[in-house]
Amino acid sequence: MTSLTDQLPGYDRHRGYDWNYQHVPDPPVCDVPRVPGPWRFCGLPIGSPLGVPAGPLLNGRWCLYYAALGFDLLTYKTVRSRAWACYPQPNLQPVRCGQLRGEETDLPAAEEMVGSWAVSFGMPSQSPDVWRQDVRWTRQHLPADKLLSVSVVGSVQDGWTLEQLADDYAQCAAWAVESSADCVETNFSCPNVSTCDGQLYQHPDQAGQVARRVREAVGRVPYIVKVGRIPESDDAARLLDALSPWVDALAMTNSIASTVVAADGTRLFDGQPRGICGDATRDASLAQTRRMARLIAEGQYPLELIGVGGVNSAEHVRQYLAAGAHAVHIATAAMADPGVALRIRRELAR
Ligand SMILES: Cc1cc2nc3c(=O)[nH]c(=O)nc-3n(C[C@H](O)[C@H](O)[C@H](O)COP(=O)(O)O)c2cc1C
Repeated sequence: MTSLTDQLPGYDRHRGYDWNYQHVPDPPVCDVPRVPGPWRFCGLPIGSPLGVPAGPLLNGRWCLYYAALGFDLLTYKTVRSRAWACYPQPNLQPVRCGQLRGEETDLPAAEEMVGSWAVSFGMPSQSPDVWRQDVRWTRQHLPADKLLSVSVVGSVQDGWTLEQLADDYAQCAAWAVESSADCVETNFSCPNVSTCDGQLYQHPDQAGQVARRVREAVGRVPYIVKVGRIPESDDAARLLDALSPWVDALAMTNSIASTVVAADGTRLFDGQPRGICGDATRDASLAQTRRMARLIAEGQYPLELIGVGGVNSAEHVRQYLAAGAHAVHIATAAMADPGVALRIRRELAR
């Protein structure tokens, strides 16, 4: 039986996506404390509000690993309608900074992980025949009381109309449901790609049109939209208006974009911004969750919220729940310390 003091294996940030896709730790046997509930997500019963957002779970074996470590909603890393290569390394570059507000540039790169990193994958994907089969396998092997969500993104081509992009999102979402996903998420925010599939959340009308197509494709399956940073309440209200007829939940915040600079002054990633994830995003993401929860209550939108960004303790989980989140998801801290949910559960159980 694995104990909390054991060093658990995890994602190796010094190696690439393909290596980590192949090298997945076996699920340990461990004592998983119950989180006093009951808990529900989008009408489905669930053991706790704890989940892993799109990112760390590259395939079904990674989903099973984190399910054994106390996470109840497992989000399969964003997939596409065609195979897609990962950006070159570094995919995960630690940075040294305080809490970010969104206006920062040129964050100093760090040698060691100190809580936050720049994430640079470019949403790689296996081909649909591979991920569809793997999603089906995952649902078959995941314990019945855990939920499997599949994150999808459209892959915009030169000359495509919005309808074609919407159809591409909807096709992936339909495949996810056909493969037995319990929930579907569409990524409307990726600061690491410059095409419109990465920025849809900033265009409420377009986001609404894509969400409607996805809803038509998935029927009544719970549907989540992942969004980025929205500092202005008016923009947030417009997005809620556009999405609420079609969507069950919003996941926020994807990350905060910034450029990163090495010790010798060289700008990493060809000077392009990358999404900063982890500790440094918590204050901004909490504030956004609070603001969204207020707008949802005022507008009486039938929407739930997933709080994401900088969570690594039971106190942070409580802060997101108090801000109005129905679920709390952890990416960076779960990769740095795969036992984080066990630690949080032990404290929440007290
Ligand atoms: C390694 C890694 C890969 C990620 N890949 C995706 C992705 O494919 N799709 C997506 O919507 N978000 C992705 N994200 C963003 C996370 O879902 C999450 O929003 C972000 O990391 C903030 O949570 P954290 O502070 O707990 O890391 C990724 C994050 C990390 C760390």
